Amino acid sequence: MQFTIKSGAPEKQRTPCLAVGVFAGTARGELFDALDRASDGALASLLAAGELDDKAGASLLIHAPAGLACQRLLLVSLGEAEALADKPWRDAVAAVARYAANAPFKELTFALGQVDLPARDLDWRLEQAARMLADAAYRFTLHKANAKAKADNPDKGVTEIRVLLGGRPGDAEKRAVERGLAVAEGMALTRDLGNLAGNICTPSYLAGRARKLGKEMKLKVEVLERAAMEKLGMGSLLSVAKGSAEPPKLIVMHYRGAKAKDKPVVLVGKGITFDTGGISLKPGAEMDEMKFDMCGAASVFGTVKAVARMGLPINLIGVVPAAENMPGGRASKPGDVVESMSGQTIEILNTDAEGRLILCDALTYVERYEPACVVDIATLTGACIIALGKIPSGLLANDDELAGELLAAGQSSGDRAWQLPLWDEYQELLKSNFADMANIGGRYGGAITAAAFLARFTKKYSWAHLDIAGTAWLSGDAKGATGRPVPLLSEFLIGRAGRD
Ligand code: BES
Ligand code: MN
Ligand code: ZN
Repeated sequence: MQFTIKSGAPEKQRTPCLAVGVFAGTARGELFDALDRASDGALASLLAAGELDDKAGASLLIHAPAGLACQRLLLVSLGEAEALADKPWRDAVAAVARYAANAPFKELTFALGQVDLPARDLDWRLEQAARMLADAAYRFTLHKANAKAKADNPDKGVTEIRVLLGGRPGDAEKRAVERGLAVAEGMALTRDLGNLAGNICTPSYLAGRARKLGKEMKLKVEVLERAAMEKLGMGSLLSVAKGSAEPPKLIVMHYRGAKAKDKPVVLVGKGITFDTGGISLKPGAEMDEMKFDMCGAASVFGTVKAVARMGLPINLIGVVPAAENMPGGRASKPGDVVESMSGQTIEILNTDAEGRLILCDALTYVERYEPACVVDIATLTGACIIALGKIPSGLLANDDELAGELLAAGQSSGDRAWQLPLWDEYQELLKSNFADMANIGGRYGGAITAAAFLARFTKKYSWAHLDIAGTAWLSGDAKGATGRPVPLLSEFLIGRAGRD
């Protein structure tokens, strides 16, 4: 997607389509008024006749509007002016983005960046709009026979957005648009990796993609093989891979945007490339969706790419423990006891609680980087979906300041998280008669007991955990990876970099 920023009068825009926001009521906004004057009141009469619903995100397409230079005018409702906030504005932008993604022309002029939002400046609006417009154009074609042809020659959809501003655009505005595009590019990588079939996207495949990303973005990339993990004593991570013919990998990507001595932010992503449940086998219905069990890993790839593309002045390390969870003659069994890299022993009461088993060793491994903070991202528990639904990601942390930063980044990016408690009382649920802890905590509070398990491995640094089981992908007709929480993580890191 190409973006340019320009200024000028809306009625004079020679463009296949001009998209403009409109408030409900009589005061419909300056841009609309300018267009309406040029159309001799024709637009106001259409709206007076009820042609455009007042609900934010409703839209009306007018062909060859009289008195205007554009070929089409897309009026998008912003709702009541008094109720204007992030959500109605996002709903309106999303409506433009959906329309643009399937439009029968190539260029669209976008004027919703000019809407004055309470507490959100122009840079914010441009970054968000660029990301949403670019992300809506995403298509997954890698498994289609004519993928190459489709990707090179998309038959439908806008490929060029002209962002229309009232005044002359400056460098800050250009940078804001570039940030939005960088985040969308990261999301596209995350969505691609998530959507790839489990027989293609194996731990070895992820390792290959990390090396490729390293070349493209000038990152140092290391891949630890099984033997190296054995030497490190990663008995927990290795136990998950035992039932599979696919060898596990521990992937480490280093982005250096600051001084060598500046402490890195470390992201750790769950990379289960397929989760059958292992010997504690999952039921068959919708098991195909367990190819998405590496979406935490995919979000680390995507965020590293976005950060490198933006060139943020921070140090960032992305770590991905990758394995396939299969039943088999050598697979872990319920009741097996393993020793983690930390020395703590774990009784595996359920082989389907495998995410925490690979994460705990990765979380011990990253102590060596003396991180400023560590955020892990995982499709960890069905219980998180029961608790929060599919709107926010679950957030748990041993540091409330870090939690606050992530919650704010979620609000700002619209990719929200909601905090759950991580009180000591939950630790009792992980008691084991035979080892230092069990890998499950019983029926209640499953998202919390999973995080309580991880908390035993993150005592040496400031840490937060994002449970993205409900947010990483959609089911049903729209089945596919969402690219979340790349917007949240990118916003968090932009904040850490202290830019804009
Ligand atoms: N990958 C799943 C969690 C999951 C399930 C995410 C459904 C999204 C949709 C995870 O490995 C798992 O199986 N968790 C178990 C834990 C239980 C055995 C304590 C779960 O949530 O049922
Ligand atoms: Mn599982
Ligand atoms: Zn899993």
